[in-house]
Amino acid sequence: MGRSHPSIPGLPSDRKEAPLAHIWNGQLGARQLRRIVYSADEIQHRVAEMGTEIGEAYGPRSDVLVLGMLKGSFIFVADLVRRIPFPIHVDFLLASSYGNDRVSSGKVRLMYNPEASMKGRHVILVEDIVDSGTTINRLMPLLQERGPASLEICTLLHKRIARLDWNVRWVGFDAPAEFLVGYGLDYAEDFRHLPYIGSI
Ligand code: IMP
Ligand code: MG
Repeated sequence: MGRSHPSIPGLPSDRKEAPLAHIWNGQLGARQLRRIVYSADEIQHRVAEMGTEIGEAYGPRSDVLVLGMLKGSFIFVADLVRRIPFPIHVDFLLASSYGNDRVSSGKVRLMYNPEASMKGRHVILVEDIVDSGTTINRLMPLLQERGPASLEICTLLHKRIARLDWNVRWVGFDAPAEFLVGYGLDYAEDFRHLPYIGSI
């Protein structure tokens, strides 16, 4: 079993992995990390499984486009595509809610439009986390309009509180009702770089 990491004072963790040197005394920006919810090892293990599952769902000759939702999915996408056992293409899109950041207005605008054509291709939309489901519900019709052969959703985390109009085909973990950060997920842009997922 691996190295032991120095633990951070005041940071309770039910995980073996201590938080390395990525944060300063459990704190980054204005917020304190409360606990580690998914260790880096657990995430890597699950992402590998998801890559295999996706590989089994499409044939090796399928024209698959993995479409990552920026910014939160950037690490997940990077790890996931390396676990899909056949050639695929990768692009990203950046969606933004109008207006206030904290309270979702229900409207979604595409800030970066993927360059890749979707027509006749098997598109997998990759999310970091499904919370209220607003993003997915608003985005999927926009993507559907572009005529993909199929359109599936893959998310690392699912809070299971959303009223979704769409089926989520691949879910990494059912997430607790906490605000999660790390492995791409942020609080006010902090914590994205953590190799594990914690709650604040
Ligand atoms: P939804 O539209 O409410 O489903 O929210 C989706 C987006 O909100 C995600 O892609 C995240 O960027 C953000 N989000 C929701 N819950 C969390 C969380 O617990 N931590 C960090 N970001 C979150
Ligand atoms: Mg975000």
